[in-house]
Amino acid sequence: IGIFDSGLGGLSVVRELPSVLPNERFVYFGDTGRVPYGSRSQAIIERYARQDCDLLLSYDVKYIIAACGTVSSVAGEVLQNLPVPAMGVVEPTAEAALQVTKNRRIGVIGTSLTVRSGSFEKAIRDRCPNANVFAEACPVLVTLVESGWIDADDPVTVAAVKRYVAPLMEQDIDTLILGCTHFPLLAPILSKVLGERVALVNSGAATAAACAKELTKRELLAKDGNGECRFLVSDRPQNFTRVAEMFLGRSVGEQVEQVDPEGVK
Ligand code: DGL
Repeated sequence: IGIFDSGLGGLSVVRELPSVLPNERFVYFGDTGRVPYGSRSQAIIERYARQDCDLLLSYDVKYIIAACGTVSSVAGEVLQNLPVPAMGVVEPTAEAALQVTKNRRIGVIGTSLTVRSGSFEKAIRDRCPNANVFAEACPVLVTLVESGWIDADDPVTVAAVKRYVAPLMEQDIDTLILGCTHFPLLAPILSKVLGERVALVNSGAATAAACAKELTKRELLAKDGNGECRFLVSDRPQNFTRVAEMFLGRSVGEQVEQVDPEGVK
């Protein structure tokens, strides 16, 4: 199974996969040489998504997860036209949020492109037309995560989170979708700032569960894997490895390799 994101964010999906798909093998691509995706245009993200998928296909994957809210929001056509089935994070995460909310007032935080696309609003309103959705673009949070400023007490990240979520809190939301896959890395800070009244919906868990369901339905489940994951990055691996180890709580250094997504086809 191939998984990709612009950088570290997709690890929030990778972290959840082995527990629901213990017999698979995974290959993760973090496009660290071209992060961030969320401040670029749709046309560029479609091109990157195509190249990222081609890279994963060259590793002979049978299924692809776009573990990136931005790609999932604007490059659906790329994902639908691959030689293998693929899924993004928007639909499963929207469904998970609707199962959690009681007052149907749902906040979404994501990248600028994700918020501009209105993807989460659409996915929610298609399933529940009377839900209220409030979205806030939080581009700086992606940079803070990529810099590894994810400690629960980091004063800069806490201040940035407070500033971004303030308008959402005024809307009396009871559920917040982490619509960018980088944001589960900030879950400790987000729960502290938002308090108990707001449930956080993590795209990682929702997407991993949806992927397991999809593979079962398509009879694509493996029996011989052991949940191991190999990591590919498009810039020097040092920073990725450091933050990945912090987030995953295990060493990955040996499995990280630098590749060029523009040199595949
Ligand atoms: N993690 C990605 C997302 O879910 C992209 C963040 C970025 O590169 O801007 O949107």
